[in-house]
Amino acid sequence: MIYHFFIAQSQRRRRPLSPSASIRARLSTKSSHVDMRAAQRSATAPCALATRANATSTSARRCASVMRATASEDETLRSFDPDMVGYLAPELLVSNLTVRDGDDGCVGKGAFSQCFLGTLRTDDGADVDVVVKRYLEVPGRDVGSFYDDEWDACRVLRACPGVAPFLGAAGVQQYLVWENVGLVTLENALEGGDDVFQEARRAMPNALGSASTDAECFLAIAKSLTASIAAIHGNDIIHRDVKPSNVLLSDTRGVVLCDLGAAADVETGRGMDGEAIFDPIYGAPEQFEIVQTGGGMLGGLFGRKNSEKSSFELRATGETPTFLFDAFSLGMTLLRLGVPSLRSETAISQARKDIDALCGGDIVRWRNEICVAGVNDWSLVDGTGAWDTIARLTHPLPSARLSVDTAEF
Ligand SMILES: Nc1ncnc2c1ncn2[C@@H]1O[C@H](COP(=O)(O)OP(=O)(O)OP(=O)(O)O)[C@@H](O)[C@H]1O
Ligand SMILES: [Mg+2]
Repeated sequence: MIYHFFIAQSQRRRRPLSPSASIRARLSTKSSHVDMRAAQRSATAPCALATRANATSTSARRCASVMRATASEDETLRSFDPDMVGYLAPELLVSNLTVRDGDDGCVGKGAFSQCFLGTLRTDDGADVDVVVKRYLEVPGRDVGSFYDDEWDACRVLRACPGVAPFLGAAGVQQYLVWENVGLVTLENALEGGDDVFQEARRAMPNALGSASTDAECFLAIAKSLTASIAAIHGNDIIHRDVKPSNVLLSDTRGVVLCDLGAAADVETGRGMDGEAIFDPIYGAPEQFEIVQTGGGMLGGLFGRKNSEKSSFELRATGETPTFLFDAFSLGMTLLRLGVPSLRSETAISQARKDIDALCGGDIVRWRNEICVAGVNDWSLVDGTGAWDTIARLTHPLPSARLSVDTAEF
């Protein structure tokens, strides 16, 4: 279960560090997903389009060349600049879409949206398996702006190799449509515990190729996920919600990311205002702070509950998003994958709390001083040489953190 915490629309127009720009989270909740979206999120799509389209600067040319470099499949994207050919995402006809919107077709449900299986009839009459996202009506929330934001990030990234292929939008703020690349997420594979790599091999036998041992599979997934995030960054987008449930293990596409609902666009400024959407297990420490608001001791926050009445707020720090947000989340994701005792969501959640509360965010200290010898098996991360990279990716200080594009596995 994912919880979204939010501030009211009227309050979202203030700067994030104001007392009202906070959210209340009872951290006894299993998994919290914090949503403190930007005041400017209600900026309309045409506005952002104009910003990007009218940019005649080096940055626009750079963006165009990145698009050219990554547009392996969509020829039209090669002429993205300056004529805007291929700029807008395809508009799909709702009448060409069959959505299995019952329980059996539902593949994901968030606080603001639901994902369903479906079929899209293409111009040449073929039926393509798709996944569609439909945003829900949420009283008091401008969900339409969330739709526009995700649509915009998907549009920018639709030819990016590390992302689930975006096919377009159908209806008026009705459906976002992606190719169904295979439904197994890294989260699903992790649910297999010790069998995680067996699950991964089952989901993507061709993509994993000759990787047969656990170490080879771990490295193949780490490399591929790193490359996917780096490709997203190459398009000036920060994903901001990198975590196992948003990582698809696709046999046709490799390790790709989905869920661009939280993405920030460095070029247009969309989502760049310092409020944050993050999952506190994977979110970079500079994105949020934890403030005690109720009774009990702060220690109760970290799994050592002193009082049932303890309550805490997760508060956005207002830090402007950077690519290093995703670096931290990548490191946490690979820590979970690489250490068998951390593969359950409960275990990685506890580990994150301990790393922050007991070790000031220092993962090396946490391993050396907090982890009980013999309980965790470090052989995979040590044997593959990944430990050092994971530790540098999760460095609590952004200035000392390894960036995704320089991380090597
Ligand atoms: N292109 C795709 N191909 C296959 N499966 C997909 C694809 N896109 C999404 N999915 C599946 O749907 C699930 C939900 O998608 P997504 O993460 O975009 O939405 P969500 O997590 O429900 O939204 P929210 O972030 O609001 O909670 C994913 O975890 C994955 O299982
Ligand atoms: Mg998701």
